[in-house]
Amino acid sequence: MSVERIISGKSLGGVEEKYNLTLRPSKLAEYIGQKEIIAKLSISVRAARERQEPIEHTLLYGPPGLGKTTLAFIIANEMGARLIVSSGPALVRPADLLGVLTNLERGDILFIDEIHRLASPVEEYLYSAMEDFRISINLDKGIYSKVMEVPLKPFTLIGATTRSGLLGTAFRERFGILHHFDFYPPEDLCEIISRSAKMLELEIDREAVAELAIRSRGTPRTANRLLRRVRDYAQVHGDGKVNRVNGAAALKMEGIDECGLDQVDRKFLTTIIEYYDGGPVGIEAIAATLNEEVDTLADVVEPYLLKVGFVIRTRQGRKVTKKAFEHLRLEMPAGQEHLF
Ligand code: ADE
Repeated sequence: MSVERIISGKSLGGVEEKYNLTLRPSKLAEYIGQKEIIAKLSISVRAARERQEPIEHTLLYGPPGLGKTTLAFIIANEMGARLIVSSGPALVRPADLLGVLTNLERGDILFIDEIHRLASPVEEYLYSAMEDFRISINLDKGIYSKVMEVPLKPFTLIGATTRSGLLGTAFRERFGILHHFDFYPPEDLCEIISRSAKMLELEIDREAVAELAIRSRGTPRTANRLLRRVRDYAQVHGDGKVNRVNGAAALKMEGIDECGLDQVDRKFLTTIIEYYDGGPVGIEAIAATLNEEVDTLADVVEPYLLKVGFVIRTRQGRKVTKKAFEHLRLEMPAGQEHLF
């Protein structure tokens, strides 16, 4: 099973990133949705700017594709700061981090994506860097060992994670600002899609925008990706204008249903139903049956299914709901209907 699917919030890399950058808002005022986060951040940014201080260390968490990276770019832009981008998996050893930290200038923003994937020695190195803007370097080993203290310029760390639960308390507490991203309601997605269409000089009618919004799993990155697919379809099968009919046909070709679920979502649900009688079942068992990584299921697939109520989490594991059986037009196990 591939997770590089059209409605995954996960970035597909290179070309898509470039495309997204052109559609991404660059100012807080242009940002659509996540109103509370934007209101609070506007104050943080303004206050820090007025004091001519770097903004406090910030942790952004929530499912992929909801705008965490976009917001890090916006904060840097609003602060007039340089943004240095790295990620948890890229910083393997403390030495990798050392190079990055010692090259930071006052006010720079270091963005670490997937910060929950930092190795613990690297994470621990960050503690003193974040708190006191200094790091200790061990020189030599054994009886000749010496510790050298290196001062750093005051900087801001922005961490992004799909799972804040995986960060230790000691690490989480070093962030002064924490914001949780939630899925976007269809009204916000309509606005985002209309804005993107305008920027792409694409004609799309209101009904098609609404249809796309419903099928985007609450995720702007998905909305923009679907918009590209319907644009291609309308260009090849019509006059280039997107309407409800050719929009729906394009999405059907992509295997996306009227709730925005794709084959991977449906496979997740049907696996629980067909192999585990609808659950409860542990995520590890589902992952093994699907030959998929637990992290991918937990970070990318499951959050939206939980959000829309097709799956619930119980102490014993994941369970599908009556709503999921109905959506998939599957029968509940005879005599057990009351359990779902
Ligand atoms: N493009 C992607 N996400 C967006 C957002 N939240 N606001 C405006 N444009 C976007």
